Amino acid sequence: MALLWSLALPFVYFELVQSNMALGRYASLCCRSFLREETCPNAAFTALLQPAWSGWRLGAKRHLLSEDVVKLQDFQRRKMAVAHLITGTDGNFIEMFGHKLQRKSLLLRDELKLLLHLCQSAEDMKTARDAIYRYHAENRNVAHGEFKFGPVFVRLCYELRLEQMAAAAVTDHEMRGFFNEATSFNIAMDMLFMKGCHQDALEVLRSMRSQSVPFNKDTLMLASAVCYKLNTSESFTICTSLMEEGVVKGHFVPRLAYCFAAALALRQNDVKKAQMLFSQVMITESRLCQNMKVLLLAASGEIEDAVDLLSSAARLAKSPSFVRKPEFSQEVLEQILLLSEGGAQEARARETLSRLERTGQVTPRTLDDMLCHAPASKRRAAPIVEARWPNRRSLKPLHSTLLSE
Ligand SMILES: *[C@@H]1O[C@H](CO)[C@@H](O)[C@H](O)[C@H]1NC(C)=O
Repeated sequence: MALLWSLALPFVYFELVQSNMALGRYASLCCRSFLREETCPNAAFTALLQPAWSGWRLGAKRHLLSEDVVKLQDFQRRKMAVAHLITGTDGNFIEMFGHKLQRKSLLLRDELKLLLHLCQSAEDMKTARDAIYRYHAENRNVAHGEFKFGPVFVRLCYELRLEQMAAAAVTDHEMRGFFNEATSFNIAMDMLFMKGCHQDALEVLRSMRSQSVPFNKDTLMLASAVCYKLNTSESFTICTSLMEEGVVKGHFVPRLAYCFAAALALRQNDVKKAQMLFSQVMITESRLCQNMKVLLLAASGEIEDAVDLLSSAARLAKSPSFVRKPEFSQEVLEQILLLSEGGAQEARARETLSRLERTGQVTPRTLDDMLCHAPASKRRAAPIVEARWPNRRSLKPLHSTLLSE
């Protein structure tokens, strides 16, 4: 068995390196595969009881952080390299580590590092979790040095779809100081957002604040996305005060954060606030912003201006093909029609809408779809494996994937 293992891995590794190019496109589609909205288990570790991958590929769901931030592919590459190095070692490292934990012997930094790069299942992650708790308890007062374990642990949870485990760890009092940078919290929030666990994501944000971990631009974007999804008067208050705080403190607040906040204000029927928030967006050329603009105009009773904007967009259809034609959401356009009903603009609105339809500028995507859409990675699609790290069992499907690309 050990022999098989050591033979198979270098092979997989070699195959992967060779097939980097072919896989890039495939990987960017599937690595961050979307998940199904599910009810959120309250018990922190119930996720552990289920197979990590059940149901994940089904249905569409959105994530908000780009691969530049999550860096799952880099992480998986490192894991493979580590696995490559360790082949040939006798016995199961994770199992041995579990025994070590039971014996209460001292945990070394490099051992923990190794462990975190070898986990492949929810079962392994129980050992990893126990190990980081132990390590933190033993080293609470010692600087952890250059290496940050927090993001590694959370990326592992991300890879194995254990969002509740990530959330429980980053919010745990006992672990204060272990996750001391925004990335761990942000990735945990993104995972919870994907699963539709918005309340849990808000708890992560609260905990981040109470642990005095500074927010960064991704935190603000995730926070306003979560508040928008929650759509309560409380989440509205949190969202607007975060945006205001950002301005006051001179932090960079991303455009998407303002768009979420403005959309939330519209949902909460506070048109003035929505306008104020949207006015903070400097560049409004994107499809999302154009749709927001039309909707905001209409919501503030300026139907004529809304229709003007739409009809100038329809005129763009005649321009050369390299000019990108604005597209509008069917949902937004229906809203405009509704608001113009019985008024002076009704006929013009109808006419403009059918023109947009004829020029192919109407999309079935809703405003929500446009909002909850991760930005494309700025880097070229990096090569990597199927979202799950290959092992002997997955060798075959992986291999056929390579061939089919
Ligand atoms: C958002 O909340 C408001 C006020 O509670 C409610 O009227 C509205 O229908 C909600 N919108 C969505 C999309 O849930």
